Amino acid sequence: MNARDLPAMSNVNLQHYWMPFTDNRRFKAKPRLVASAKDMYFTTAEGKQVLDGLATLWCVNAGHTRPRIVEAIRKQAGELDFASSFALGHPLPFQLAERIAAIAPRGMHQVFFTNSGSEAVDTALKMAVAYHRLRGQGTRTRFIGRERSYHGVNIGGTSISGVAANRKAYSGMLLPGVDHLRHTHDPSRNSFSRGQPAHGAELANELEERIVPLHDASNIAALIVDPVSASGGVLIPPKGYLQRLREICTRHGILLVFDEVITGWGRLGAPFAAQHFGVEPDLITFAKGITSGAVPLGGVLVRGSIYETFMQAQGAGMEFFHGYTYSGHPLACAAALAALDTYDQEGLFSKTQLAAHFEAGVHSLKGLPHVVDCRNLGLIGAVELAPRPNAPGERGYETFEKCWERGVFVRPVGDSVAFCPPLIAENRHLDQIFGTVAEVLKTVN
Ligand SMILES: Cc1ncc(COP(=O)(O)O)c(C=O)c1O
Repeated sequence: MNARDLPAMSNVNLQHYWMPFTDNRRFKAKPRLVASAKDMYFTTAEGKQVLDGLATLWCVNAGHTRPRIVEAIRKQAGELDFASSFALGHPLPFQLAERIAAIAPRGMHQVFFTNSGSEAVDTALKMAVAYHRLRGQGTRTRFIGRERSYHGVNIGGTSISGVAANRKAYSGMLLPGVDHLRHTHDPSRNSFSRGQPAHGAELANELEERIVPLHDASNIAALIVDPVSASGGVLIPPKGYLQRLREICTRHGILLVFDEVITGWGRLGAPFAAQHFGVEPDLITFAKGITSGAVPLGGVLVRGSIYETFMQAQGAGMEFFHGYTYSGHPLACAAALAALDTYDQEGLFSKTQLAAHFEAGVHSLKGLPHVVDCRNLGLIGAVELAPRPNAPGERGYETFEKCWERGVFVRPVGDSVAFCPPLIAENRHLDQIFGTVAEVLKTVN
């Protein structure tokens, strides 16, 4: 939308669109509409500039409407708008898979495409079960998730997620055979940690001490972990915790899935969190930043030995009965290839100095009213506020609304306020984000 169209936005009928993950009544009473976006900023319907402090929804890692990505989408739409990947092909998903394999963790060189993170997660669950079955271990059908983790909204992902509010209404329809590990958030020992908290690696032992004896390893297909639980409140894994989970999974033949829908594509200073932490999972789910949010695309990155198990299965025919009409969509692949070029050419996966400035900014909020914790890793962080008595989440929401009014977009997750700027941010943008949050916190009841 151009600036000249702005007046038209005031006439938008808000009634018919049922907005996702939104308090519709509250929003429609006081809407926030964006007209356009460029690099680090949105322009609102009123023509105001708002700094995007959350890469919109943890995805616009290269910033908004970057020319290379825009041009790639435009060109692709005119050349090949759609071709299916069901027993037909076009070059782009092959090229993109090759590019992803080249920067993937060691041994992970097969890619299955989906349209979203939720689909990637459910795809990974199916892959895990089918893989075990092919190896004669068909009893391995259970999954282990973690409290406060978020793995999307499809039935599999909702079942393994640990955000209670997202599960409550659907309790009776969730997958049977799912158990959850405790989350690792421990403010009593780790508050105001810079980077990974020191305490809590031993929480991984629950997998071996409680879960495996209870269900028996022969029934467990996979453990699914979001290396940083972003939508659960930006929970940073304690030092040594993920490594210990890896060791236990290996000992018991349990596949380890890293859900990197947010931590992938440079968020932690490496292509994937697996590389940042030096932990080798068996499957990685990704989405969001792969196209810098420009076109929906997700996928599963698969260890070569798992793929080979499917390819060597006895009998001819289809190896994996799964896929989406738009798996490997040309527009999404073109956008992703252009996004990877942008990340590469601008060195966006290794902004160490910016991460240091970000850490200083997050922790500058310590000591302000209501602040009970500040935490960060790479370019993701949060400030946690004490909840208002009898009104959990309201302080976080008020902070978000007031920041928006002052030109900064951040995201409330309960009473935590999350920060996740595009990787093109400069120090001055971070100063604007944390300066605004600091000002706002002084006014929040
Ligand atoms: C870790 C994780 N997994 C899965 C998803 C779901 O992705 P999508 O919203 O693209 O379905 C998200 C979304 O935020 C996520 O953070």
